[in-house]
Amino acid sequence: MNKLIDTFGRKHNYLRISVTDRCNLRCVYCMPHDGIEWKKKEQLLSYEEIFRISRVFAQMGVDKIRLTGGEPMVRKNLEVLIEQLALIDGIKTLAMTTNATLLKPIAKHLRSIGLTALNISLDTFKQDRFTAITRRDDLANVIGGIHAAIEADFQSLKLNMVVMSGVNDDEILDFVEFVKDKKMNVRFIEYMPFKDNSWKLDKVVTFQEMRDRIQQKYNLYPLPTEASAVAKDFGIEGYPGTVSFISSMSDSFCGTCNRLRLTSDGQIKSCLFYPAETNLRDALRKGITDQTLEEMILYALTLKPEAHPPAEEIAAADNRAMIEIGG
Ligand code: GTP
Ligand code: 5AD
Ligand code: SF4
Repeated sequence: MNKLIDTFGRKHNYLRISVTDRCNLRCVYCMPHDGIEWKKKEQLLSYEEIFRISRVFAQMGVDKIRLTGGEPMVRKNLEVLIEQLALIDGIKTLAMTTNATLLKPIAKHLRSIGLTALNISLDTFKQDRFTAITRRDDLANVIGGIHAAIEADFQSLKLNMVVMSGVNDDEILDFVEFVKDKKMNVRFIEYMPFKDNSWKLDKVVTFQEMRDRIQQKYNLYPLPTEASAVAKDFGIEGYPGTVSFISSMSDSFCGTCNRLRLTSDGQIKSCLFYPAETNLRDALRKGITDQTLEEMILYALTLKPEAHPPAEEIAAADNRAMIEIGG
Protein backbone atom coordinates (compact mmCIF):
# COMPACT_ATOMS: atom_id res chain seq x y z
CA MET A 1 0.00 0.00 0.00
CA ASN A 2 1.30 3.46 -0.87
CA LYS A 3 0.88 6.04 1.91
CA LEU A 4 2.74 8.77 0.06
CA ILE A 5 -0.21 10.58 -1.47
CA ASP A 6 -0.18 14.37 -1.57
CA THR A 7 -2.91 17.02 -1.45
CA PHE A 8 -3.45 16.70 -5.19
CA GLY A 9 -3.80 12.90 -5.18
CA ARG A 10 -0.36 12.18 -6.62
CA LYS A 11 1.25 8.92 -5.49
CA HIS A 12 4.99 9.00 -4.73
CA ASN A 13 7.05 5.86 -5.26
CA TYR A 14 10.37 7.43 -6.32
CA LEU A 15 12.94 8.86 -3.91
CA ARG A 16 15.97 10.78 -5.18
CA ILE A 17 18.74 10.81 -2.60
CA SER A 18 21.58 13.31 -2.94
CA VAL A 19 24.58 11.81 -1.16
CA THR A 20 26.89 14.82 -1.50
CA ASP A 21 26.81 18.42 -2.68
CA ARG A 22 30.35 18.08 -4.05
CA CYS A 23 31.35 17.41 -7.60
CA ASN A 24 34.58 16.97 -9.50
CA LEU A 25 33.16 18.92 -12.47
CA ARG A 26 31.78 22.46 -12.55
CA CYS A 27 29.05 22.40 -15.21
CA VAL A 28 27.97 25.93 -16.03
CA TYR A 29 24.25 25.08 -15.92
CA CYS A 30 24.52 23.40 -12.52
CA MET A 31 27.23 25.02 -10.45
CA PRO A 32 26.83 28.76 -9.67
CA HIS A 33 29.75 30.80 -11.09
CA ASP A 34 30.77 31.97 -7.61
CA GLY A 35 30.70 28.41 -6.27
CA ILE A 36 28.70 27.23 -3.27
CA GLU A 37 29.56 26.81 0.35
CA TRP A 38 30.29 23.10 0.67
CA LYS A 39 28.55 21.29 3.49
CA LYS A 40 30.78 20.01 6.27
CA LYS A 41 30.97 16.28 6.85
CA GLU A 42 28.91 16.40 10.05
CA GLN A 43 26.14 18.25 8.21
CA LEU A 44 25.73 15.35 5.79
CA LEU A 45 23.59 12.34 6.56
CA SER A 46 25.70 9.31 7.41
CA TYR A 47 25.12 6.11 5.42
CA GLU A 48 23.34 4.67 8.47
CA GLU A 49 20.97 7.66 8.51
CA ILE A 50 20.32 7.41 4.77
CA PHE A 51 19.63 3.70 5.13
CA ARG A 52 17.17 4.23 7.98
CA ILE A 53 15.27 6.95 6.15
CA SER A 54 15.18 4.86 2.97
CA ARG A 55 13.79 1.87 4.84
CA VAL A 56 10.97 4.01 6.22
CA PHE A 57 10.26 5.42 2.75
CA ALA A 58 10.14 1.87 1.35
CA GLN A 59 7.63 0.89 4.03
CA MET A 60 5.52 3.86 2.94
CA GLY A 61 5.49 2.89 -0.74
CA VAL A 62 8.79 3.90 -2.37
CA ASP A 63 10.03 1.19 -4.77
CA LYS A 64 12.60 3.23 -6.70
CA ILE A 65 15.64 5.03 -5.32
CA ARG A 66 18.07 7.13 -7.32
CA LEU A 67 21.39 8.32 -5.94
CA THR A 68 22.45 11.76 -7.08
CA GLY A 69 24.91 14.47 -6.01
CA GLY A 70 26.69 16.80 -6.79
CA GLU A 71 28.48 13.75 -8.14
CA PRO A 72 27.50 10.73 -6.03
CA MET A 73 30.71 8.83 -6.78
CA VAL A 74 32.92 11.43 -5.10
CA ARG A 75 31.50 10.31 -1.75
CA LYS A 76 33.80 7.72 -0.16
CA ASN A 77 32.76 4.07 -0.11
CA LEU A 78 29.53 4.67 -1.99
CA GLU A 79 29.41 0.98 -2.79
CA VAL A 80 28.74 0.28 0.90
CA LEU A 81 25.55 2.35 0.73
CA ILE A 82 24.50 0.82 -2.61
CA GLU A 83 24.90 -2.67 -1.22
CA GLN A 84 22.69 -1.83 1.78
CA LEU A 85 19.99 -0.02 -0.19
CA ALA A 86 19.73 -2.88 -2.68
CA LEU A 87 18.71 -5.20 0.15
CA ILE A 88 15.78 -3.08 1.40
CA ASP A 89 12.48 -4.88 1.04
CA GLY A 90 10.35 -3.36 -1.70
CA ILE A 91 13.10 -1.54 -3.62
CA LYS A 92 12.82 -2.77 -7.21
CA THR A 93 14.93 -0.12 -8.93
CA LEU A 94 18.17 1.23 -7.52
CA ALA A 95 19.53 3.85 -9.88
CA MET A 96 22.25 6.48 -10.00
CA THR A 97 22.82 9.64 -12.02
CA THR A 98 26.53 10.26 -12.51
CA ASN A 99 28.97 12.22 -14.64
CA ALA A 100 30.84 8.90 -15.16
CA THR A 101 34.31 10.37 -14.59
CA LEU A 102 35.00 7.82 -11.84
CA LEU A 103 32.90 5.00 -13.23
CA LYS A 104 35.21 2.88 -15.37
CA PRO A 105 37.01 0.86 -12.68
CA ILE A 106 33.90 0.17 -10.65
CA ALA A 107 30.96 -0.11 -13.10
CA LYS A 108 30.84 -3.92 -13.09
CA HIS A 109 31.11 -4.12 -9.33
CA LEU A 110 28.26 -1.64 -8.82
CA ARG A 111 26.08 -3.68 -11.15
CA SER A 112 26.92 -6.88 -9.27
CA ILE A 113 25.96 -5.47 -5.85
CA GLY A 114 22.52 -4.37 -6.98
CA LEU A 115 22.67 -1.06 -8.85
CA THR A 116 20.12 -1.67 -11.61
CA ALA A 117 20.03 1.54 -13.65
CA LEU A 118 22.46 4.24 -14.62
CA ASN A 119 21.97 7.70 -16.12
CA ILE A 120 25.12 9.39 -17.35
CA SER A 121 25.36 13.14 -17.91
CA LEU A 122 27.24 14.16 -21.03
CA ASP A 123 26.63 17.28 -23.09
CA THR A 124 29.30 17.11 -25.79
CA PHE A 125 31.72 14.77 -27.53
CA LYS A 126 34.12 17.62 -28.30
CA GLN A 127 37.15 18.03 -26.07
CA ASP A 128 37.33 21.83 -26.01
CA ARG A 129 33.60 22.15 -25.53
CA PHE A 130 33.61 19.64 -22.68
CA THR A 131 36.22 21.76 -20.95
CA ALA A 132 34.20 24.94 -21.55
CA ILE A 133 30.97 23.42 -20.21
CA THR A 134 32.36 21.47 -17.25
CA ARG A 135 35.40 23.69 -16.53
CA ARG A 136 37.44 20.47 -16.24
CA ASP A 137 39.38 18.34 -18.73
CA ASP A 138 37.90 14.90 -18.16
CA LEU A 139 36.13 13.80 -21.37
CA ALA A 140 38.29 10.69 -21.88
CA ASN A 141 37.35 9.34 -18.45
CA VAL A 142 33.65 9.93 -19.13
CA ILE A 143 33.82 8.07 -22.44
CA GLY A 144 35.69 5.25 -20.68
CA GLY A 145 32.95 5.22 -18.03
CA ILE A 146 30.21 4.99 -20.64
CA HIS A 147 31.84 2.01 -22.34
CA ALA A 148 32.34 0.30 -18.98
CA ALA A 149 28.65 0.87 -18.21
CA ILE A 150 27.66 -0.70 -21.53
CA GLU A 151 29.77 -3.77 -20.69
CA ALA A 152 28.34 -3.99 -17.17
CA ASP A 153 24.90 -4.56 -18.73
CA PHE A 154 22.65 -2.41 -16.55
CA GLN A 155 18.90 -3.01 -16.88
CA SER A 156 18.66 0.55 -18.08
CA LEU A 157 21.38 2.85 -19.40
CA LYS A 158 20.70 6.45 -20.42
CA LEU A 159 22.72 9.46 -21.51
CA ASN A 160 21.47 12.88 -20.33
CA MET A 161 22.34 15.82 -22.58
CA VAL A 162 21.34 19.30 -21.44
CA VAL A 163 20.78 21.10 -24.73
CA MET A 164 21.74 24.78 -24.83
CA SER A 165 21.19 26.92 -27.89
CA GLY A 166 24.48 28.08 -29.44
CA VAL A 167 26.49 25.94 -27.00
CA ASN A 168 25.94 22.28 -27.96
CA ASP A 169 22.68 22.07 -29.91
CA ASP A 170 24.62 21.30 -33.10
CA GLU A 171 25.56 17.91 -31.56
CA ILE A 172 22.05 16.52 -31.15
CA LEU A 173 22.45 14.21 -34.14
CA ASP A 174 25.89 13.06 -32.94
CA PHE A 175 24.22 11.82 -29.75
CA VAL A 176 21.52 10.00 -31.73
CA GLU A 177 24.30 8.38 -33.77
CA PHE A 178 26.16 7.36 -30.63
CA VAL A 179 23.22 5.44 -29.14
CA LYS A 180 21.39 4.23 -32.20
CA ASP A 181 23.15 0.87 -32.49
CA LYS A 182 23.37 0.27 -28.75
CA LYS A 183 20.92 -0.89 -26.08
CA MET A 184 20.92 2.66 -24.85
CA ASN A 185 18.73 5.72 -24.55
CA VAL A 186 19.69 9.37 -25.04
CA ARG A 187 17.61 12.07 -23.40
CA PHE A 188 17.68 15.60 -24.67
CA ILE A 189 16.89 17.88 -21.74
CA GLU A 190 15.50 21.38 -21.96
CA TYR A 191 17.80 23.77 -20.10
CA MET A 192 16.20 24.66 -16.75
CA PRO A 193 16.77 27.76 -14.62
CA PHE A 194 18.40 27.49 -11.17
CA LYS A 195 20.08 29.92 -8.88
CA ASP A 196 23.00 31.65 -10.69
CA ASN A 197 23.19 29.10 -13.51
CA SER A 198 23.45 31.49 -16.49
CA TRP A 199 20.01 30.44 -17.70
CA LYS A 200 18.29 32.56 -20.36
CA LEU A 201 15.04 31.82 -22.13
CA ASP A 202 16.72 32.16 -25.53
CA LYS A 203 19.17 29.37 -24.63
CA VAL A 204 16.34 26.86 -24.26
CA VAL A 205 15.88 24.55 -27.24
CA THR A 206 12.37 23.15 -27.00
CA PHE A 207 11.30 19.55 -27.31
CA GLN A 208 9.52 20.34 -30.61
CA GLU A 209 12.62 21.95 -32.13
CA MET A 210 14.86 19.05 -31.06
CA ARG A 211 12.44 16.47 -32.35
CA ASP A 212 12.07 18.26 -35.69
CA ARG A 213 15.83 18.38 -36.14
CA ILE A 214 16.20 14.64 -35.50
CA GLN A 215 13.22 13.81 -37.73
CA GLN A 216 15.04 15.34 -40.68
CA LYS A 217 17.37 12.34 -40.61
CA TYR A 218 15.61 9.60 -38.61
CA ASN A 219 12.07 8.40 -38.29
CA LEU A 220 11.07 8.64 -34.63
CA TYR A 221 8.01 6.78 -33.39
CA PRO A 222 6.47 7.24 -29.92
CA LEU A 223 7.00 4.50 -27.36
CA PRO A 224 4.58 3.77 -24.53
CA THR A 225 5.69 5.64 -21.39
CA GLU A 226 4.71 5.41 -17.74
CA ALA A 227 2.36 8.22 -16.74
CA SER A 228 4.84 9.53 -14.16
CA ALA A 229 7.86 9.58 -16.50
CA VAL A 230 9.72 12.87 -16.95
CA ALA A 231 10.70 11.91 -20.49
CA LYS A 232 8.80 11.42 -23.72
CA ASP A 233 10.29 8.30 -25.32
CA PHE A 234 10.74 7.47 -29.01
CA GLY A 235 12.08 4.55 -31.01
CA ILE A 236 14.42 5.19 -33.95
CA GLU A 237 13.08 3.25 -36.92
CA GLY A 238 15.50 0.47 -37.83
CA TYR A 239 17.68 0.75 -34.72
CA PRO A 240 17.72 -0.68 -31.18
CA GLY A 241 18.72 2.60 -29.48
CA THR A 242 16.04 5.04 -28.29
CA VAL A 243 15.65 8.79 -27.98
CA SER A 244 13.77 10.81 -25.34
CA PHE A 245 13.04 14.40 -24.50
CA ILE A 246 12.63 16.05 -21.10
CA SER A 247 10.41 19.03 -21.68
CA SER A 248 10.32 20.66 -18.21
CA MET A 249 10.16 24.13 -19.78
CA SER A 250 7.87 23.80 -22.80
CA ASP A 251 5.51 21.14 -21.50
CA SER A 252 5.89 20.45 -17.79
CA PHE A 253 4.80 17.19 -16.21
CA CYS A 254 4.00 18.18 -12.62
CA GLY A 255 0.51 16.67 -12.75
CA THR A 256 1.91 13.14 -12.69
CA CYS A 257 4.97 13.77 -10.51
CA ASN A 258 5.91 10.75 -8.37
CA ARG A 259 9.22 12.08 -6.98
CA LEU A 260 10.45 13.17 -3.57
CA ARG A 261 13.97 14.30 -2.76
CA LEU A 262 16.25 13.84 0.20
CA THR A 263 19.12 16.35 0.24
CA SER A 264 22.62 15.40 1.38
CA ASP A 265 22.05 17.36 4.60
CA GLY A 266 18.87 15.49 5.36
CA GLN A 267 16.07 17.75 4.19
CA ILE A 268 13.05 16.48 2.33
CA LYS A 269 12.35 18.56 -0.71
CA SER A 270 8.93 17.84 -2.10
CA CYS A 271 9.54 19.68 -5.40
CA LEU A 272 12.67 20.36 -7.43
CA PHE A 273 11.73 23.99 -8.00
CA TYR A 274 10.13 24.83 -4.68
CA PRO A 275 12.23 25.96 -1.70
CA ALA A 276 10.18 24.37 1.14
CA GLU A 277 12.15 21.74 3.07
CA THR A 278 11.55 19.46 6.06
CA ASN A 279 14.53 18.76 8.31
CA LEU A 280 14.73 15.02 8.98
CA ARG A 281 18.39 15.09 9.98
CA ASP A 282 18.04 17.10 13.17
CA ALA A 283 14.94 15.18 14.22
CA LEU A 284 16.75 11.90 13.60
CA ARG A 285 19.70 13.03 15.69
CA LYS A 286 17.34 13.84 18.55
CA GLY A 287 16.31 10.18 18.56
CA ILE A 288 12.84 10.16 16.99
CA THR A 289 11.02 6.89 16.33
CA ASP A 290 10.26 5.51 12.86
CA GLN A 291 6.63 6.43 13.51
CA THR A 292 7.55 10.13 13.97
CA LEU A 293 9.79 9.91 10.92
CA GLU A 294 6.76 8.73 8.92
CA GLU A 295 4.70 11.63 10.24
CA MET A 296 7.39 14.12 9.24
CA ILE A 297 7.54 12.62 5.76
CA LEU A 298 3.77 12.94 5.43
CA TYR A 299 4.02 16.56 6.58
CA ALA A 300 6.68 17.23 3.92
CA LEU A 301 4.24 15.91 1.32
CA THR A 302 1.64 18.50 2.34
CA LEU A 303 4.15 21.20 1.28
CA LYS A 304 4.31 19.96 -2.31
CA PRO A 305 2.86 22.48 -4.77
CA GLU A 306 0.51 21.48 -7.58
CA ALA A 307 2.94 22.66 -10.25
CA HIS A 308 6.12 24.64 -10.58
CA PRO A 309 5.90 28.36 -11.41
CA PRO A 310 6.85 29.79 -14.83
CA ALA A 311 10.54 29.77 -15.81
CA GLU A 312 11.30 33.44 -15.06
CA GLU A 313 9.89 33.07 -11.56
CA ILE A 314 11.92 29.92 -10.96
CA ALA A 315 15.10 31.71 -12.05
CA ALA A 316 14.46 34.46 -9.48
CA ALA A 317 13.35 32.16 -6.62
CA ASP A 318 15.51 31.54 -3.60
CA ASN A 319 15.86 27.80 -4.23
CA ARG A 320 19.02 25.79 -3.69
CA ALA A 321 21.50 25.61 -6.56
CA MET A 322 21.11 22.57 -8.84
CA ILE A 323 24.40 21.07 -7.63
CA GLU A 324 22.97 20.91 -4.10
CA ILE A 325 19.71 19.30 -5.22
CA GLY A 326 21.04 16.72 -7.68
CA GLY A 327 18.36 17.15 -10.30
P1 GTP B 1 14.68 8.03 -14.86
O1 GTP B 1 14.40 7.38 -13.58
O2 GTP B 1 15.63 7.24 -15.71
O3 GTP B 1 13.49 8.51 -15.61
O4 GTP B 1 15.57 9.32 -14.49
P2 GTP B 1 15.15 10.77 -14.04
O5 GTP B 1 14.84 11.58 -15.24
O6 GTP B 1 14.15 10.69 -12.99
O7 GTP B 1 16.53 11.28 -13.37
P3 GTP B 1 17.83 12.05 -13.88
O8 GTP B 1 18.66 12.25 -12.68
O9 GTP B 1 18.46 11.35 -15.02
O10 GTP B 1 17.31 13.46 -14.36
C1 GTP B 1 17.12 13.80 -15.70
C2 GTP B 1 16.57 15.19 -15.84
O11 GTP B 1 15.23 15.22 -15.37
C3 GTP B 1 17.35 16.25 -15.06
O12 GTP B 1 17.45 17.40 -15.83
C4 GTP B 1 16.47 16.45 -13.87
O13 GTP B 1 16.68 17.70 -13.32
C5 GTP B 1 15.09 16.29 -14.49
N1 GTP B 1 14.13 15.97 -13.47
C6 GTP B 1 14.18 14.94 -12.59
N2 GTP B 1 13.14 14.99 -11.75
C7 GTP B 1 12.43 16.09 -12.11
C8 GTP B 1 11.24 16.70 -11.61
O14 GTP B 1 10.67 16.28 -10.63
N3 GTP B 1 10.78 17.80 -12.25
C9 GTP B 1 11.41 18.33 -13.31
N4 GTP B 1 10.90 19.39 -13.88
N5 GTP B 1 12.54 17.80 -13.81
C10 GTP B 1 13.04 16.70 -13.21
N1 5AD C 1 18.75 22.03 -16.68
C1 5AD C 1 18.49 20.76 -17.07
N2 5AD C 1 19.13 19.69 -16.59
C2 5AD C 1 20.10 19.89 -15.70
N3 5AD C 1 20.94 19.04 -15.07
C3 5AD C 1 21.74 19.75 -14.26
N4 5AD C 1 21.45 21.08 -14.35
C4 5AD C 1 20.44 21.18 -15.26
C5 5AD C 1 19.71 22.27 -15.78
N5 5AD C 1 19.96 23.53 -15.42
C6 5AD C 1 20.94 17.61 -15.29
C7 5AD C 1 22.32 17.02 -15.31
C8 5AD C 1 22.10 15.61 -14.80
C9 5AD C 1 20.74 15.65 -14.14
C10 5AD C 1 20.75 15.22 -12.73
O1 5AD C 1 20.31 16.99 -14.20
O2 5AD C 1 22.86 16.99 -16.58
O3 5AD C 1 22.06 14.70 -15.85
FE1 SF4 D 1 28.66 17.93 -11.41
FE2 SF4 D 1 26.49 16.90 -12.55
FE3 SF4 D 1 26.41 19.38 -11.71
FE4 SF4 D 1 27.95 18.75 -13.79
S1 SF4 D 1 25.69 18.58 -13.69
S2 SF4 D 1 28.58 20.05 -12.03
S3 SF4 D 1 28.62 16.73 -13.33
S4 SF4 D 1 26.63 17.62 -10.45
